[in-house]
Amino acid sequence: MDELLVAQINDELKTLKTEGRYRLANELQSPQGPEVRMDGGGRIMLSSNNYLGLADDPRVIDGAKKALDEFGNGTASVRFICGTMSLHQKLEKKIAEFLNVEAAVTFISCWDANVGLIPTLAGQDDAVFSDALNHASIIDAIRLTKAKRCVYPHRDTVKLEQLLKENNGARRKLIITDGVFSMEGDLAPLPELARLADKYQAVLAVDESHATGVLGEHGRGTTEHFGLQGQVDIQTSTLGKALGGSCGGYVAAKKTIVDYLIQYSRPHLFSNALPPAVCGGAIAAIEILQTEPQRLKRLHENVSYFREQLSKLGLKVLPGETPIVPVMIGETATAITFQKGLLNKGVFVCGFGYPVVPKGEARLRCQICATHTKEHLDRAGAAFKEVKKDLGL
Ligand SMILES: Cc1ncc(COP(=O)(O)O)c(C=O)c1O
Repeated sequence: MDELLVAQINDELKTLKTEGRYRLANELQSPQGPEVRMDGGGRIMLSSNNYLGLADDPRVIDGAKKALDEFGNGTASVRFICGTMSLHQKLEKKIAEFLNVEAAVTFISCWDANVGLIPTLAGQDDAVFSDALNHASIIDAIRLTKAKRCVYPHRDTVKLEQLLKENNGARRKLIITDGVFSMEGDLAPLPELARLADKYQAVLAVDESHATGVLGEHGRGTTEHFGLQGQVDIQTSTLGKALGGSCGGYVAAKKTIVDYLIQYSRPHLFSNALPPAVCGGAIAAIEILQTEPQRLKRLHENVSYFREQLSKLGLKVLPGETPIVPVMIGETATAITFQKGLLNKGVFVCGFGYPVVPKGEARLRCQICATHTKEHLDRAGAAFKEVKKDLGL
């Protein structure tokens, strides 16, 4: 009965292929690291969120193995039925202590954390204020609410204030933003958002996924970077990037808010808990972040070094201070050709085109890690130079 559906989808897939927009699987034949194995050969990895280089750290792997041995493969249940292990509580306590907040609750991903947070807190009589470039998980989470949706242009706090004024009568007002925007690598204007939240008695929630373990003196994210501890009400983040690169997410906030999510958030109530191995790996990753501040320092040295190198080549690099270094190319097909050229020269960078980014704004998103050596970054810079020349850009 699915002949029509398959024919329709095949047409769409064919179009992607003819327009050069079909995404490749990018198979990795090794653990994630500064260098990986692809197509049987070594490649410098410039396309992972493994910011602190912990995804293949032996201590993280050991933490995961020990948890697997002690607690088995999984909970075989959602949390409130029979699926909360002492290990989940240990991880949640660790996250709350690390962030210096009252409490945290974990989800199977940060996608689920956002979906667990937004529709639970914002209902029919409420209003949600969201940056236009927020992550897809925030956009989809807002689609699940019955609240009024107020999307403001990227980082436009003047427009945000206007929307707050217009919706001042809402029962609850929730401002939600990425801390670091994943396609741009820029930061939310958090001090101004905090000021507006205070002025209009709104709740401020920040998704710190690309900032956790990356920004702030202790790697606590944009909240710490801007010195806004206590003014950002709710933080969501992932365990799948700097904190070990596996999966898992969390919401961290006042205990009352976390308790409420445990009672009502649907991913918590209707989906299994994090696997023990993931919890064990994440606990080890947070401990490494707390005891090895040199990783954070090294990450930022690498970021400055690589940004400077690419800028010298005359490539259009979006300015910023984060490890996300977008090189603007323009057309999606050109970005994909550039990506293939780099891959042939031993460097893996992912090209992003429409619909992930707006039409005509395709880019190569480089991501820098603490474990890249200067030699990796030099080799990657040389590959960019050669491919740019080959393509006549
Ligand atoms: C800002 C932001 N939020 C949420 C997510 C989703 O995180 P996870 O992979 O844990 O679902 C991502 C991942 O790309 C992200 O960049």
